[in-house]
Order: sequence, then structure tokens, then C-alpha cells
Amino acid sequence: MLLPLLTLPRAMPVASKRPTQSGVPPTREDRERVRTLAARYVAAVKPVIPISLEELRTHAERLTAAEGLSEAFQNYVGVVINSEANREALAGVPFERRLLLLPKCLRVEDRCPAPFDEFGLLCKQCGLCTIQDLQAEAEKLGYAVLVAEGSALVMAIIQTGKIDAIIGVSCLSVLEKAFPYMEAAAIPGVAIPLLQDDCKDTSIDVEWVWDFIHLSSDDRTFRLDLDGVRAEVDTWFTPAALREILADGDTPSERIAREWLARAGKRWRPFLVACVWKALQDDPTTPFPDDLKKLAVAVECFHKASLVHDDIEDSDDLRYGEKTLHAQHGIPVALNVGDLLLGDGYRLIAETDAPSSVRAEMLRIAAEGHRTLCLGQGNELTWANEPTPLTPLEVVGIHRQKTSPAFEVALRIGAAFGGADADLHATLTAYSEALGIAYQIRDDIDDLTNPDGDDLTLTRPAFPLAAAYERAKGEDREALERAWRRAADAPDAATLREIIDRLGAGERAEQMLDSYKEQAVRVLLDVQNPSLKGLLRRVVGKIFSVEIRSWCREFETRNAASRPASPEAVG
Ligand code: IPE
Ligand code: MG
Repeated sequence: MLLPLLTLPRAMPVASKRPTQSGVPPTREDRERVRTLAARYVAAVKPVIPISLEELRTHAERLTAAEGLSEAFQNYVGVVINSEANREALAGVPFERRLLLLPKCLRVEDRCPAPFDEFGLLCKQCGLCTIQDLQAEAEKLGYAVLVAEGSALVMAIIQTGKIDAIIGVSCLSVLEKAFPYMEAAAIPGVAIPLLQDDCKDTSIDVEWVWDFIHLSSDDRTFRLDLDGVRAEVDTWFTPAALREILADGDTPSERIAREWLARAGKRWRPFLVACVWKALQDDPTTPFPDDLKKLAVAVECFHKASLVHDDIEDSDDLRYGEKTLHAQHGIPVALNVGDLLLGDGYRLIAETDAPSSVRAEMLRIAAEGHRTLCLGQGNELTWANEPTPLTPLEVVGIHRQKTSPAFEVALRIGAAFGGADADLHATLTAYSEALGIAYQIRDDIDDLTNPDGDDLTLTRPAFPLAAAYERAKGEDREALERAWRRAADAPDAATLREIIDRLGAGERAEQMLDSYKEQAVRVLLDVQNPSLKGLLRRVVGKIFSVEIRSWCREFETRNAASRPASPEAVG
């Protein structure tokens, strides 16, 4: 069975700045960590479902204590453990025998045209909120979907005997209340806690919902623990592991190169090499061979070399909160270490024990990516000699050349080593293009919101600046023009931010980011291998944290009288 994949939900996935409800870890990283730990805990302890509330408390207490998690999150940990323990069982239930329960506070209450009947909200598909996207996707798969709360209703549905599994989205307190009913019904249930519990501006980790909705036993990658792969990839970058994989010497340059590789970074590119290769294996439990590790390190060598050179080109003295390589060792040494890393990358690929045609293919992919990146970087650098305003389209053109190749090299090298055909390579190229552009736009947005960023970070060819310039008139336009041209009387960073903000250019950038993410997901429709398709879909969610945000006026009317509207009162 092919995994049906459409697009990400259309509603604006604005990262919620609102505090999460008490009991829910406030950062996405922490929530992901809880999920990874819960998955590992379940794999090790193998609790038998249905888990009683008492047992669940014990499991949550144990995991919380063992991992030094805050006790304040214990109930959340319990919900996540329960969901992970139910994962396999859910995967075995056909879609048409599952129920998706969504909370009505995901709607835009004051503009929502949907009426209610005894089963809850009858969505009119107006497109204002995310309910429609989640509902449409789930119904397409065959789910029954209810936008409602209330245990009585859920029990009634369970008693019809037509439902064998439930996916529920709700705030912690509702989930806690619903738990005994679910347990009593003994049907597999997974829950995704809302991040707020005040029925207003609530958001969820939409990727979790998406993962669970699509979970099926035909798609092996849903059992592939992406966090586990990431953790394993990280172990290839310790100084000792690098020494072994690189099999290099101990000259000062080699030492600096290894230290730089080991220092920090998100390791997305080696992660992608590993994921694609894994998805192409018939047996997903096949361990990563040494050659695969070499390839993963090779793409990180290319990436880290490009960062060393980029920091010199941009005169950046800080990266990862530490001195850049040239700030530490001087430009000549850093330049040379960058070159050494490039040589090492090619050497590692050439050393793999793949058929010579595959090796040649991988080297060609690396060389092409290397060239395209230099051409993109070159366009930016020559532009910077005499900077002029750029259109959003021109900026995207630079991003396409500068940032997409590293993703493409990673994905296609993993694919080539895993035995991919030409069609898959073409799809991966299109996927990388969209992913790379989205990644760079996100970086542009981060620069915009980074309080430590200076004027120069803002005036590189960045999407928000281009979008602002396109919209600006009169004095704003003149000020932006001076910024683009890096004139002596250019506005300072704070003024620039204010103009960009006022012209809605940050929001425009967010929209473009969404649209490139969606494009990345859309090209996956052509992927024939369901494991790879599912995996690449999940990778988009991993790289870009996506939260659904919605509004529910109910909160204001219901709580205005009883609660002070201070931030502390929320959560
Ligand atoms: C930095 O890439 C250059 C960009 C494309 C924005 P990353 O932000 O992925 O860098 P590392 O891998 O974490 O160092
Ligand atoms: Mg640069």
C-alpha cells in the first residue's frame, strides 16, 4: 500500500510564542526528547497494553527519575509513554476502523461558519483553521473524524463496535479525564497533548498528529526511529570515531580539521545520507556499514569546509557561540583546513567499497554539488562588491544554488549507495531544491529575529529584506535602498527590523517558507517506495518544527470573569 501524502496542513504554522500549559515542556526540543526517551523506554520495558492508570504513573515516575526530567512534566511523560506503547497496535488497525478526535478550540471561533450537531462540529471546509486539513487527510485515508469533546460521545462511538483505535488531540486535563474510558474500552489509543489548555491560541506538535494519522504496518519507516538514527549519526562525530572513520594522521592541520568536524552542528546532512540509505534497505534493522559512515562523514566534510570558507568570506568571527576557525588560527590556516576537508570528502567517497559505477556516480554528485554551491556563493560575493537591491525571486535563486546542493549531495549519495534508480535521483533533486530554499529562508528569518545580529547579517541577500523592499514606498524604500547598498547612512539594525516588520515582510517570508516546505512534500508524490516516501515526509517535519496555531474566543468569554488576563495566568 502506498502511503498517501499530500501537503502539510495549510494553516499558518507560526511558532507559538505563548507559554505552554503547566505540565507540558515548553520547548519543542524538550517535547521531542520526551518522545524519544518514551520510545526507548517502551522498547526496553515493553509494557503490555492497555496500561492501567496506576501502571502508567509508575512508568512515568521511573522514566522521569531515570532521565532526570522535571517532575512537573510527569503526567505529560505518562501520556507520551502510553502513546508510544500503543503505536504498534495502532499501526495494525486499518484506517477505516480508526477514529480521529480533534478539539474544537482549533477553530477560529468568531469566524467559523460550521454548525454543531450531536456529534460535534460540522466543518464547512472554509480554510480558516487546520481542522479541515487534518480532517480531510484522515477522512481520505478512511478515518472517522470527530471535532468534539466529551467522554460520553467517545464511549458511544466505541460502543458502536466500528472503531478499533483512537487518535486524540486534546489538552492534558481532558486527556487525563478521557484515559480511564480508553483503558476500559481496551482499544489502542494514542494522544497528542495540546500545548496550551486555555482554549485560546492553542497549538499542537502537528507532526506528531501527522505521524500517527499515517501510521500503518505497511510503512516500515514509521517504525524507524528517526531520533535513534540521529543519535547514532552523532556518535560518528566524536573525536575517536572521526579518527577511525577518516583514518588520517596527526599533523596540526588534520587535528584542526577533526576538531572542527567534531565541534558542533546539527548534522542534518549526514543524517539525510543515513536515512535515505536505511529507507532503501529491505530490512530496516540492517546496521549501518562502515562505508555508509564514511559517506556520512564525507558530506559533513564538504559542509563544514563550506562553513570555514564562508566565515572567512563574510568576516564572521563567531559560530556555534565560539570563535570561527580563522578567528582562532588565522585566515591562511583556516583556508587550508577548508581545502583539506574538501579533499577528505572526495577521498572518503573514493575509498568506499561500492561498484566502480556507483563510486563514480557518487563522486560526480559531490563534484556537481560543490560547483553549484560555489557558483551560488560566487554570485552572492560578486554582488556584495557592488550591492544593489534584489527581488525576492533573485534571492531565492541564490538560495537555490547556495543551500540546496548540500542537501542534494547528501540525499543522492545515500540513494546511490542504496541502489536508487534515475527517477528517484530526479525526485531527490527536486525535493532538495525546495528543502534547501526553505532552510535558507528559515535562516534568514532567524537572522531577522536574532537580537545579536548586526546590520550586515540583515543586508546579505535575505528574503525578508527583498520582500520589504518590494513593498516599500517613499522614505521606507529609500532607507531600504541605502541598506541594500550598504551606504554609510544606511539605517541601523533596529530601524531595519522595524521597517521590515511594519511592511509585513517577515510574515511574507514565513509564507514562502511554508510554500517551499509544501513543495518539498509535494514532489514526494512521485516516490514509488512507500518507506522512502514516508521517511522523507517525516524529515521535513524533523528539520522544520511545525506547530498548528488556532484561536478560540471561548476562552476570553469563559475566563474573563474568573481569571486575571496576566501572562502568568495562562498555563
Ligand atoms: C549553515 O547550515 C548554513 C546554512 C545553510 C544556513 P547549518 O545551520 O545546517 O549548519 P550546522 O550543520 O548546524 O553547522
Ligand atoms: Mg555567506
